[in-house]
Amino acid sequence: MTGYDGLRSALAGPVDRVLEVSLGGSFSRLGYEARSRLLPEYTEAPEPTLAGRNVLITGATSGIGLSAAIRLARHGARVHFLARSKQRAERTRRQVAVVAGRAGYDPDGVSYGIADLDSLASVREFAAAFASGHDRLDVLIHNAGAIHPGYQRNSAGLELTVAGQVVAPFLLTYQLFGLLRQSAPSRVITVSSGGMYTQGLDLSSLQLTAADYQGVTAYARAKRAQVALSAQWAKRAGGTGVAFHAMHPGWVRTPGIARSLPTFSRLLGPLLRTPDQGADTIIWLASADPDRLSTGRFWHDRRRRPVYRIPGARPAALDEGQRLWDWTAEQAGVDASQLPMSDPSR
Ligand SMILES: NC(=O)c1ccc[n+]([C@@H]2O[C@H](COP(=O)([O-])OP(=O)(O)OC[C@H]3O[C@@H](n4cnc5c(N)ncnc54)[C@H](OP(=O)(O)O)[C@@H]3O)[C@@H](O)[C@H]2O)c1
Repeated sequence: MTGYDGLRSALAGPVDRVLEVSLGGSFSRLGYEARSRLLPEYTEAPEPTLAGRNVLITGATSGIGLSAAIRLARHGARVHFLARSKQRAERTRRQVAVVAGRAGYDPDGVSYGIADLDSLASVREFAAAFASGHDRLDVLIHNAGAIHPGYQRNSAGLELTVAGQVVAPFLLTYQLFGLLRQSAPSRVITVSSGGMYTQGLDLSSLQLTAADYQGVTAYARAKRAQVALSAQWAKRAGGTGVAFHAMHPGWVRTPGIARSLPTFSRLLGPLLRTPDQGADTIIWLASADPDRLSTGRFWHDRRRRPVYRIPGARPAALDEGQRLWDWTAEQAGVDASQLPMSDPSR
């Protein structure tokens, strides 16, 4: 070990801990840049290899998802994505296919299906088409997300933040669980947000009403619910070889954040991460040796992180995760009590 390596290894743990405590340091570009130079998860990590793996990602037409799709294709994955606009999907397909081709992989391996996560009927149709057209699914990435500025409900009466970011990913996972299981070891990755730290897990206040609606609060609660559901899936899918990971990307310069939090985005300016930096832990979770990743955990910058940090933001009850699971399954119109014994997509 050189003197530099010794210094790096001595600094890695303390610097990571200081960043974690500072929160802003951790979420910003500074956190990524320090950790990627110091932590062995970066400095000793092999190049990701995803050749021949089937990856399905939502929200690939913009920001973090686009960056993730490009990097997945560059490392050999056959990238399929869910998009709600045919025009943006086609533009993304071309962009990702060029990268796959340049890296020596089949550009025709990049494909998409159209669905709007705000509509469960649309998700069901998408999942059925995907399951009938593919014989395996190695990685499913729930990345799509948004802060809705105003209160809106879908045709089933669900508030849109909850419909698109809690119930829809649950339904998609449920419908593709059979494929994931037969492709084991496989994994499901959920892109949450550090904003969830501000909210406890409380089913009774997950859905805001028109009167008390605030986009940022609705979003943070939905992101909290995503992480709780990922842990519930992990518990139920034990022994199937399907692993569940949730992560947060930090503060990332994307069209989404510029649109929904313009002042924050302007103030943070150069401290925001690049989309590639935001996507980094997604790629790492998608490609790392499965034996190194315990299922049901929450990750940021390639390390396991606590799920709760603020004393007031805790689960409303010990069985709140179970209650959330039951409620979400009911909203999705599925009987998930039998998972993983049943094989819903087969
Ligand atoms: N940027 C950050 O600082 C930050 C921080 C924490 C967490 N995140 C999370 O990271 C993920 C990606 O965010 P981003 O910042 O990259 O946002 P973005 O640039 O707005 O991209 C969001 C993606 O999600 C898609 N999408 C949104 N609603 C959808 C729906 N109902 N159905 C289908 N697709 C939908 C969008 O499709 P269209 O192109 O059709 O709009 C787009 O591809 C989100 O889950 C977000 O919550 C981001």
